[in-house]
Amino acid sequence: MTEREATLHTDAGDLELPVVEPTAGNAGLDIRRLRGELGYVTFDPGFANTAGTKSSITYVDGAAGELRHRGYRIEDLAEHCSFLEVAYLLLFGELPTRAQLEAWSLEIKHHTLLSEEMKRFFDAFPRSAHPMAILSSATNAISTFYETYYNPSDSEAVIESAKRLIAKMPTIAAWAYKKSIGQPYVYPRNDLDYVENFLHMMFALPVEETKIDPVVARALNVLLILHADHGQNCSTATVRSVGSARANLFASVAAGMNALWGPLHGGANQAVIEMLQEILDDPDATVESTIARAKDPNDPFRLMGFGHRVYRNYDPRAKVLRSFAHEVLERTSGTDPMLEVAQELEARALADPYFAERKLFPNVDFYSGIIFRALGFPPRMFTVLFAIGRLPGWIANWKEMIEDPDTRITRPRQVYVGIVDRPFVPIDRR
Ligand code: ACO
Repeated sequence: MTEREATLHTDAGDLELPVVEPTAGNAGLDIRRLRGELGYVTFDPGFANTAGTKSSITYVDGAAGELRHRGYRIEDLAEHCSFLEVAYLLLFGELPTRAQLEAWSLEIKHHTLLSEEMKRFFDAFPRSAHPMAILSSATNAISTFYETYYNPSDSEAVIESAKRLIAKMPTIAAWAYKKSIGQPYVYPRNDLDYVENFLHMMFALPVEETKIDPVVARALNVLLILHADHGQNCSTATVRSVGSARANLFASVAAGMNALWGPLHGGANQAVIEMLQEILDDPDATVESTIARAKDPNDPFRLMGFGHRVYRNYDPRAKVLRSFAHEVLERTSGTDPMLEVAQELEARALADPYFAERKLFPNVDFYSGIIFRALGFPPRMFTVLFAIGRLPGWIANWKEMIEDPDTRITRPRQVYVGIVDRPFVPIDRR
């Protein structure tokens, strides 16, 4: 195979750009010598054309609508694996053997409790607090119990931090929810698996025995797997960026959660439900008017759950969820008028030239909220569920970044376009 070459011609001179070869997807042009040798920087808002790193965790083919973790197709992982199995794959690069999975699950199980002092922490929030605010705050707060694990270069401490984060996140999430509805916090149970335990802490009451519906547990397991990682998305890039300053794993993950909360990222699943609810409740908000608003360049409104920076095709996660939504609804609530509205909205949008020309398709958030609802979760918990799912991906990326000898502190340049130099004006003369 001949090595590829690229040459950049500029008025300041030419530069040979080494090609960073991928195993799949886009090759990279190594521009690291650009500023030093030619005095230019690249201009790429949102880093849409910029690879900030090499990675061997997740491959997304946006044109074909494919997603693979460590080479395994997301459809296969969703069908055959447990969430902790996928977490192991992301973190350690291989699917676990039965013995490795048992040991891994047991270790996670042994760290699910929160320190009793953390109860007072939850008590301090107003009942109306958004659970995402509590989740990221509590993630930072639990780091205060693990200062000995702060050193990013201590690989054993990193794994210990990872275990605690994965183990405690469902407890934090469930307690944030219990706080919001004024119910007592429920402790984890070691006889339950990861997903069952989370459902127990979410929905159990001390006054009666909990029954975990296996359909609900299986559905939540699939949903968490579908959210587990997705390359250099906004929250993962945030986790890496904060970690590049050698901030500890807890602090980096808490920052990623705040990025995820945004309605253009993980907050979209809540926004989709609100949009569909408006169509159901408000006679002025129809499927047609919603699509018309999304197309109007003078209206900032966007069709929530549609479009993606990478996918120019149907998001494979949305494809799994679309058929899964019917299955889950049949087994839980029976039907949901929201699913009908969602399907009508999808059909109309896909047939509309505006969405076709821009290659806008449903993303993972379009159907996930409908399933979360059917499983009994309120909309304000949807992004929290996304965060629990994405946690192994954040940790795997943080770990990869720390271990990568090419890593430097994230510090993009800018093209300055402001006033260059002005004489100072004293306050009385302004
Ligand atoms: N509704 C209407 N128009 C849209 C939408 C949408 N959902 N998404 C993109 N467009 C339009 C843009 O207005 C733009 O049109 P123009 O070329 O006429 O200006 C064009 O499509 C390209 O859009 P960009 O904003 O350049 O695409 P970008 O890659 O920057 O944004 C994003 C991707 C943020 C996901 C966007 O599609 C969006 O806002 N979607 C709605 C929110 C959403 O569902 N977010 C979840 C994403 S998945 C995730 O995070 C898990």
